Amino acid sequence: MVEQRELRVTQMTLEAEGVLSVRLTRIESDKPLPAWEPGAHIDVYVPDGSTRQYSLCGDPQDLSAYQIAVLREPEGRGGSAFIHDELRVGDRLLVTRPKQGFALEDAPYHALVAGGVGITPIMAFAEHLDRQGRPFRLTYGGRTASTMAFRSRLAALGDRVTFLAEDSDGRPDLEAIVKELPEDGLVYVCGPLALLRAVQAAVEAVHGPDQDVVRFELFSSVGVERPESAPLDGDSYELVLAKSGHTLRMKPDANILETVLALGIEVENDCRDGICGSCVTPVLSGTVDHQDLVLTKKEQAAMDKMMICCSRPTCDRLELDL
Ligand code: FES
Repeated sequence: MVEQRELRVTQMTLEAEGVLSVRLTRIESDKPLPAWEPGAHIDVYVPDGSTRQYSLCGDPQDLSAYQIAVLREPEGRGGSAFIHDELRVGDRLLVTRPKQGFALEDAPYHALVAGGVGITPIMAFAEHLDRQGRPFRLTYGGRTASTMAFRSRLAALGDRVTFLAEDSDGRPDLEAIVKELPEDGLVYVCGPLALLRAVQAAVEAVHGPDQDVVRFELFSSVGVERPESAPLDGDSYELVLAKSGHTLRMKPDANILETVLALGIEVENDCRDGICGSCVTPVLSGTVDHQDLVLTKKEQAAMDKMMICCSRPTCDRLELDL
């Protein structure tokens, strides 16, 4: 059962052109909200019953409220339009507990790169690293200065933050950024696909191919090319759901998440496209053709978990902890 709670909207601030931050405060004042780590998000229920994911960008030590920032997306499905146009201070909003799909790994140095509203989890990382006295640099790019949210809050981090408005400053020099990476340093990226691809290309140009140093979160899978699906021997495989006791014969292209949900087994899910990490499921045995954009190369190679909304096995028997 997905844990949900109602929170009250207690503050709405226009942080930049088209970017509204929303403070969501607990209703029962004596109970702290569930704790969260930088990189976590909550799912917000919009009036049609569907959810939208928003990264948390407030103070993790303040468990009386959460803060999110919402970019108005004129071409979106209506969630951001509802929040911008209809939601008001005093309203209640149903949300899930915080989920972690973009955790900050330990490293001697973090290069943080944000594009547009991708600044929300990246700002939470930067403030966390600052509190811990750990080295980082943050490069924040936007179309124009007026579209870049949280500039004054980020200015408190001093010269470790570089603001680049594309119309006046141009694009970030990503090769210069990744050149500063020491051994075991990591690059965290949040923004559009083009930014991620550019960071990956810069890492490859500077440090060579097969460097597993980029961690990222995307807001949409539009434009993502997935790896060619690995062929499966035979025309079906056995799916074993260990906890619930089901054994099924599956066609290679049958969707595991849909199959499992149809059996009445609850699995958290949101994007159904391999980008949010909600449906991550432990793999007890078998090998997987990973099609998600969430797990790192190392995590994918470990074969101990998979996103069941988009990935499938490469073996004739897959056992899941469901
Ligand atoms: S539902 Fe988002 S990764 Fe599977």
